[in-house]
Amino acid sequence: MNTTLQRRNFVKSAAGVTALLAAPAVMTQPRDKKFRVATVGTGWWGMNITRCAIQSGDADLVAICDVDKRHLQAAAEEITGMTGKKPQMWLDFRDLLEKSKPEIVIIGTPDHWHPLITIAACNAGAHVYVEKPVGHTLLEGRAMVNAARANDRVVQVGTHRRVSPHNVWGMDFVRSGKLGKVGMIRAFVHSGGGAGQPIPDEEPPEYLDWDMWCGPAPLCPYNPRMHPKGFRSFLNYANGTLGDWGIHWMDHITWFAGDNQTPKRISSMGGRHIKRDNTDAPDTQTVQFEFDGFTAVWEHRQYAANNAEKHPLGIYFYGTEGTLHIGWVGDGTTFYPANKNREIINVPPQLHEPDQQNIPELWANFTDSIRNQRRSVSDIEIGHRSTSLSMLGMLSYKLGRGIEWDGEKERVIGDEEANQMLRREYRAPWTYPEV
Ligand SMILES: NC(=O)c1ccc[n+]([C@@H]2O[C@H](COP(=O)([O-])OP(=O)(O)OC[C@H]3O[C@@H](n4cnc5c(N)ncnc54)[C@H](O)[C@@H]3O)[C@@H](O)[C@H]2O)c1
Repeated sequence: MNTTLQRRNFVKSAAGVTALLAAPAVMTQPRDKKFRVATVGTGWWGMNITRCAIQSGDADLVAICDVDKRHLQAAAEEITGMTGKKPQMWLDFRDLLEKSKPEIVIIGTPDHWHPLITIAACNAGAHVYVEKPVGHTLLEGRAMVNAARANDRVVQVGTHRRVSPHNVWGMDFVRSGKLGKVGMIRAFVHSGGGAGQPIPDEEPPEYLDWDMWCGPAPLCPYNPRMHPKGFRSFLNYANGTLGDWGIHWMDHITWFAGDNQTPKRISSMGGRHIKRDNTDAPDTQTVQFEFDGFTAVWEHRQYAANNAEKHPLGIYFYGTEGTLHIGWVGDGTTFYPANKNREIINVPPQLHEPDQQNIPELWANFTDSIRNQRRSVSDIEIGHRSTSLSMLGMLSYKLGRGIEWDGEKERVIGDEEANQMLRREYRAPWTYPEV
């Protein structure tokens, strides 16, 4: 028997979720003031957050910055339409920080820019909502945590599944022991795509400052597949599916592990078995993470999207009392009991349009955290730990061998080549944020 908890019943019956949904309205300090907010990176996701910030009533959108003049112009027009006030427009985030003096900076640039802009914003006195993954190499994340703490700023990572009601219900279910002892976790994303075709490099378009887009990363020839959005599949700027989608599901593993346990051993295999385009991220990858008391597995493939498997993406927790699947659109969270006489429970997804997200809840948690001087639900330390799982998986994949991890020291045990790859050289004039 399959029992679907409808929204009203669900909110009544799941105490943790009730509290979470009510959280934005429960303020210990009055919402009598809007924050001066600026957005750096006004592409797809940066603008999704910016819209939610404006709609929350919390944000005075004072400034925006992008190295793509088309994106900058479109964002300025949309924000002006929403607020009746034109934001200041910048092509360099350093000018924005110095001259617009925001209290909050939203960072929606490609991954390789997140660390330097976050650290500069903290040093300029701003709180930061930075997108996932927190960076491109593992030690950048630790430098970001240090900058947040040294400046006493709230730095929140955009892992909005932390506040999705159906996810919170599922994680409470697992963490409260209702699934029994969990011995294995499997996270996966199976998407379509297939082989694809190469696209030739081009001269960068006149509206794009390609040098500044590449920033601290290598200056590659411009390819239209990289920008906008496509950088995810180019390893100079991102970490493929595991660093992009994967980090959301890695965050569930961090959540389960109590935000403090790290894997002892990591091993990854995969390759480009199908892709024939000009990207370089693996189209097929598996990772095994050995924690104390459980094994976690990641797998992705970018082909053969079909309905052969019940759930196309998400995370399974396998316990002695049954299996819990947490998915996304169309799936929500489902408990499959080991005891056949018990009911299957499905909690439907509660997501906002466009793009099926829970940014409004995360934004409310962020501004509440600033007002109440506490850390956010997706604090930078948590985001760093979840990002680290993706990066350790990619590190093992790139090395072609397994690694042993000392999570406390953030060092690979007995493998100096691997330790060198926890950081990378930045392109001048940018310097790596050493820990
Ligand atoms: N939390 C989520 O669910 C979620 C969803 C989508 C994207 N994201 C993240 O958001 C980030 C952006 O992704 P996107 O899909 O919006 O990409 P996008 O290409 O649409 O937007 C990125 C923007 O940043 C700009 N940019 C690049 N370098 C810049 C710089 N130095 N200064 C200012 N602007 C700069 C680009 O010109 C572009 O407009 C990525 O890190 C991605 O992982 C998160």
